[in-house]
Amino acid sequence: MKDQLQQLRERALTQIAGLMDEKELADVRTRILGRKGDLTGILRGLKDLAPEERTQVGQLANTLKSQLEQEFDRAEAALRERAERAKLASEFIDVTLPGRRSLSGRSHILNRVTQELIQVFAGLGFQLAEGPEVELDYYNFEALNIPKDHPARDMQDTFYFSDNVVLRTHTSPVQIRTMEQQQPPVRVICPGKVYRRDADITHSPMFMQVEGLWVDRNISLADLKGILTAFVHEYFGPHLNLRFRPSFFPFTEPSAEVDIQCVICGGSGCRTCSFTGWLEILGSGMVDPALYGFVNYDPEIYSGFAFGLGVERVAMLKYGIPDIRLFYENDMRFLNQF
Ligand code: DAH
Repeated sequence: MKDQLQQLRERALTQIAGLMDEKELADVRTRILGRKGDLTGILRGLKDLAPEERTQVGQLANTLKSQLEQEFDRAEAALRERAERAKLASEFIDVTLPGRRSLSGRSHILNRVTQELIQVFAGLGFQLAEGPEVELDYYNFEALNIPKDHPARDMQDTFYFSDNVVLRTHTSPVQIRTMEQQQPPVRVICPGKVYRRDADITHSPMFMQVEGLWVDRNISLADLKGILTAFVHEYFGPHLNLRFRPSFFPFTEPSAEVDIQCVICGGSGCRTCSFTGWLEILGSGMVDPALYGFVNYDPEIYSGFAFGLGVERVAMLKYGIPDIRLFYENDMRFLNQF
């Protein structure tokens, strides 16, 4: 039996030395030291030995058992440490590598200019109003004093869905919708997209306008001039000259277009202003009393003015942008400049 124990010792030590992982170690440990293991198997023979030999072999077996237990524990600790180290190595993070930059988004320049325009007019007491882009002929033309077959319809190349439904060609229909909904005083600013069959370096089939309308008792041309002058000075600068030039719109009488001193050449004349020194920025006028008939306002009591400006045009002048198509191409090199 001593020989058997000696052989078991040697076999166990060799096996322990060759262990690869903790699971294998647990298996080998059970096979050698477990209740049904090799050592127990050998000790089953103890009962056949002479008493004093039994004591001796018993002691030998106990020593072997604790020695092997120590060896298993040591091997287990070593395997665990090895695994730990391998795990750390595989999870190594190089904190000196440069970070990945996160791209930040922003509003499109046209939306920002629109918001700026709304802010200026909000400061002058105007409230926000909106209307649909798919519009009835009635609001886009009829109620704005542009009957069917009126030559003024030729001014605006219209996208038609049907005889009565169009893509709105301007934001002016929001004037009618607003007046239909409420009695004066009305003082609204109406931003939105509009559509015309037109495309070149200054025209896009879809573009943006901001419409303004103020109707109340005793509103006169002086109010129109005062508000629009305040707007130009607030938005483009307090020293910029502007002029009101007589014009025609079917929904205003009298009508005026507003020009500002050319922001490129300062008024001395250049290509941008066609050597006139002036740039047109908006259309305006006193609301034609004919419109009040459509919305049940009493023209003897109320009067008002309206204006409409092109957001792209304003943005091009403010930021010196030469081609309207740049706004819609979504070239990041262009958009990131604002
Ligand atoms: N709706 C006109 C256009 O798109 C612009 C305009 C002119 C609006 C005069 C107005 C106005 O409110 O009074 O060409």
